[in-house]
Amino acid sequence: MPRPARLLAAVLLALGITHAHAYVTVYSQMPFGDSTSSSVIATASAVPDAYNDPTQLTAPALPSPAPATSFNLQLAASNGSVPGLSIPIPGTFYGFSVEMSVSNQILGKNASLLQVPFLNLMSLLKARGGGVHIRVGGNSQETATMVAALPNGTILEKAAVNTQDTTQTPALLVAPGLIYMMANISALIDGVKWYLGVPMNDTSNLRLQIAEYGEQILGDNLLGLQVGNEPDLYGGNGFGGRPKSYSPQDYFTEFGQEMAGINADTSIPVKKNIVGPSVTGATWSPDEVFATGYLSAYASNLAFISVEKYPDDNCQAIFGGASAPKDPQTEFPKYLTHAAGAGIIAGFLNASVQAAALGLPMLMFETNTASCGGFPGLSDSFGAALWALDYGLTMAAANFSGALLHVSGASVYYNPFTPPPTNQSSYHSWTVAPIFYSTLGVAEALGPTGTAQVVDLQANGASDYTPAYAIYENGAPARVALFNYMTDPSGASAYTASVSVAGLGLSSVQVKYLASPSVAEKYNITWAGQDFGGAYASDGRLQGNLSVSTVACANDVCAVPVPAPGFALVFLTEDSFSEVNPAEAAVPTFSTTTTKAGRAAATVTVNASVLATSNGHGGPGGKIVLGSTSQEGGAAGLGGKGRGGGSVLVAVVVGAAVVGWRI
Ligand SMILES: *[C@@H]1O[C@H](CO)[C@@H](O)[C@H](O)[C@H]1NC(C)=O
Ligand SMILES: *[C@@H]1O[C@H](CO)[C@@H](O)[C@H](O)[C@H]1NC(C)=O
Ligand SMILES: *[C@@H]1O[C@H](CO)[C@@H](O)[C@H](O)[C@H]1NC(C)=O
Ligand SMILES: *[C@@H]1O[C@H](CO)[C@@H](O)[C@H](O)[C@H]1NC(C)=O
Ligand SMILES: *[C@@H]1O[C@H](CO)[C@@H](O)[C@H](O)[C@H]1NC(C)=O
Ligand SMILES: *[C@@H]1O[C@H](CO)[C@@H](O)[C@H](O)[C@H]1NC(C)=O
Ligand SMILES: *[C@@H]1O[C@H](CO)[C@@H](O)[C@H](O)[C@H]1NC(C)=O
Ligand SMILES: *[C@@H]1O[C@H](CO)[C@@H](O)[C@H](O)[C@H]1NC(C)=O
Ligand SMILES: *[C@@H]1O[C@H](CO)[C@@H](O)[C@H](O)[C@H]1NC(C)=O
Ligand SMILES: *[C@@H]1O[C@H](CO)[C@@H](O)[C@H](O)[C@H]1NC(C)=O
Ligand SMILES: *[C@@H]1O[C@H](CO)[C@@H](O)[C@H](O)[C@H]1NC(C)=O
Repeated sequence: MPRPARLLAAVLLALGITHAHAYVTVYSQMPFGDSTSSSVIATASAVPDAYNDPTQLTAPALPSPAPATSFNLQLAASNGSVPGLSIPIPGTFYGFSVEMSVSNQILGKNASLLQVPFLNLMSLLKARGGGVHIRVGGNSQETATMVAALPNGTILEKAAVNTQDTTQTPALLVAPGLIYMMANISALIDGVKWYLGVPMNDTSNLRLQIAEYGEQILGDNLLGLQVGNEPDLYGGNGFGGRPKSYSPQDYFTEFGQEMAGINADTSIPVKKNIVGPSVTGATWSPDEVFATGYLSAYASNLAFISVEKYPDDNCQAIFGGASAPKDPQTEFPKYLTHAAGAGIIAGFLNASVQAAALGLPMLMFETNTASCGGFPGLSDSFGAALWALDYGLTMAAANFSGALLHVSGASVYYNPFTPPPTNQSSYHSWTVAPIFYSTLGVAEALGPTGTAQVVDLQANGASDYTPAYAIYENGAPARVALFNYMTDPSGASAYTASVSVAGLGLSSVQVKYLASPSVAEKYNITWAGQDFGGAYASDGRLQGNLSVSTVACANDVCAVPVPAPGFALVFLTEDSFSEVNPAEAAVPTFSTTTTKAGRAAATVTVNASVLATSNGHGGPGGKIVLGSTSQEGGAAGLGGKGRGGGSVLVAVVVGAAVVGWRI
C-alpha cells in the first residue's frame, strides 16, 4: 500500500469521516509530508473555517542594526540603460490556481450559478491589470476523469471513499459543465482566461477529454493545458504506481506519450499550448529535465515553462509523521524579509533564462505561503500580504511572466478568498484575505499595457527590510514600489524615500498605501483607504472611500514616507495612475444585497444566463428589475457603501439578491 493512501485513510478516520459527501475536500495521491508539495486536505467538518481561527501572531522584534530611515532612489529617464531591468511583464502577472476539486465552490455551482464575490474580485483585477489568468487543476487533476454528464446539473463529483479500504484513493469526476462555467465567467468578464490540468496519472490510458472539451468550449479563453503536476514528486509518492527511481528520463518518455496522444487527437486543434515541466525543484531542478532534451523534443507543443513551489509547509500539523512540527511564530520572520522571494526562485533562474531565450513565458504555476494549508496567523496576516507583493515583484524582475496563488477549501489558511462553508452560505458571505490585496497591488504596479519592466532597486544599501522596485512603462519610469517590513508603533521605523527621475522635473506624485498597524494584523488592512471587511464580510467589492495621497516634490525630489509596516505604490505620472485606477463606475460589479433582517443575502450565487442575456438591455442609467424587489446596498456589512442608482438590476437565483452591472 502506498504511504499516501495509508495516511489519507488515517486522516479521514481520525476526522470521523465515514461518508463520501461530507464537507470534505480530498485530493488524491498527495505528496504527503513533502515540504514543497501543494497538498492539503481540507476538512470543513473538522475545521469549519480557517477564518474563524482568531490566532494572531506577534510581530517580530525590530532588526538590529536598524536600516537607515531615509535614502535616495534616483531613476533613469528611460529604460535604455537600466541594469537588471526585466523583459516586459503583463499586468495579469498574479493570477490564481484553483484546485480542481474545489472549483465548484470557488467559481460557481455550475454554468448558471456563478459566485458573485468571485466575479467582483476578478472584475477588480481586470480593471487594473487588463485581465486575470486562472488555472483549474492541481493534484486533483491527475486522477480526474471527464464524463459526458453528471446528475442534476452537477459538474464535479468525488468518487466515493470507502474508509475501510485503506488502499483506495478518491478520484474526481468532472462534467463539461465545469468548462461551460469557466466560459460563462469569461463571457461576463472579458480578459479572464484559463489554464486547465490534463491528467497524467496513467500514460498508457490517456484521458484527454478535459483537453478536448477545454479547447472546444473555451476557444481563445484557454491559455494552456498543463500536463503533469509536480512530476518530480511522482516517484517519492508512488503516484500512478511509479517507482521510487522515477527519473527525469522516465518523465521525458511519459510526457512524450501524452504529447503523441494530443498531437494525434483531432478534437484538440491547438497543439502548441502545453504548460510544463511544473517541477518543484525538491527532487529535480528544471535544468535536469531540460538536460533530457525536453525543450527541443517538445518544442512544437510547449508554450509555457512552469515551476511550482511553496517556501514552507505545515504538513506535520495536518498529517503528523516523523518531521518536527513547525511553529508559525518561528516561521513568521522568514517571510518578512526581501530575501524570502529570491530564495524561492533561486533554483529556477536558469530555467527563466532558457524560457526567455525561447520566447516562452516563465510561470510560477502554483504557489502560496506554505503547503498543507498554510500557517494559522501567518498565511492570513498583513505580513503575508507584504511577502506576496515583494515575492511577486521579485519574480517579475527575474523575468517570470506570471504566478498563480493557490486557492483551496475553506479550512486552509492561505486562500486569497474563501466562500463560507456550504451550510453557512445562506447567511455568511466571503472572506477576502490579506494576500488578495497583494494581487491588486501587483496588478496596479504593472498595469495593463504589457510593457511594464521591473527592476529591483537594491534600495537602502540592499536592506532586507526596506526593498523597493521601479516599474518602467513604454520605456519610461512609471511607478515605484516601496516596502517596510518592520512593525513599530512608535513611528521611529517609518522611513522616507527620496524619489527622483533624471530630467523629469516632477512637481508631485500620487501614492497609494497598503496600510495596517502590524504585520501580524489580520483584518484592519486598507488599500488606499478601502477594504473588504473582516471574515465573512465581503461580496468581493472594495468598501469605503478611496484615499490617495499626493506628495509634493521639491527640486525634482519627492520625499515619500513609508510607515512601519507598510507598502507604498508611487505613481510618477498621471497616466501611470489613471490607467490602473479607473473610475469606480467604470468597473462592472455584480451585487448581492441584504435581506430585510439586515443579514447577508440568501445566496451569493447569480444566475449567469440571466446576467448574460440581460447585459446590454439597460445601458447607462437604465434599470431592469427582474423578479426582485430588493434594493441594492444599505444595511449591515455587505457592499453598497456610497453606491447605488444607475444600476441594471436583474434577478438571481435564490432569494432577494440583485445584480448590478455598472457601465
Ligand atoms: C455546518 O456543518 C458543520 C459540519 O457538519 C457543523 O458542525 C455545523 O454545525 C454546521 N453549521 C450550521 C450552521 O449548520
Ligand atoms: C436529482 O434531483 C432529483 C429531484 O430533486 C432527486 O430526486 C434525485 O435524487 C437527484 N439525483 C441525484 C443523483 O442526486
Ligand atoms: C445548475 O444547477 C441547478 C441546481 O442544481 C440546476 O437547476 C441547473 O439546471 C444547473 N444548470 C446547468 C446549466 O446545468
Ligand atoms: C454558458 O453555459 C451554458 C450552459 O452550460 C452554455 O450553453 C453556454 O454556451 C455557456 N456560455 C458561454 C459563453 O460559453
Ligand atoms: C488514474 O486515474 C484513473 C481515474 O481516477 C484511475 O481509474 C486509474 O486507475 C489511475 N491509473 C493509475 C495507473 O493509477
Ligand atoms: C545554472 O547554470 C549554471 C551554469 O550552467 C550551473 O552552474 C548551475 O548549477 C545551474 N543552476 C541550477 C540550479 O541548475
Ligand atoms: C531578464 O531579461 C533581461 C532582458 O533580456 C536580462 O537582461 C536579465 O538579465 C534577465 N534577468 C534574469 C534574472 O534572468
Ligand atoms: C524600452 O521600452 C520600449 C517600449 O516599451 C521597448 O520597445 C524597448 O524594447 C525597451 N528597451 C529595453 C532595452 O528594454
Ligand atoms: C487600523 O489601522 C490603522 C493603521 O493602518 C490605524 O490607524 C487604526 O487605528 C486601526 N484601527 C483599529 C480599529 O485598530
Ligand atoms: C465617504 O465619503 C462620503 C462623501 O464624502 C462620506 O459621506 C462618507 O461618510 C465617507 N465614508 C467613509 C466610510 O468614510
Ligand atoms: C436561470 O435563468 C434562466 C433564464 O431565466 C432559467 O431558464 C433558469 O431556469 C435559471 N436557472 C436556475 C437554476 O434558476
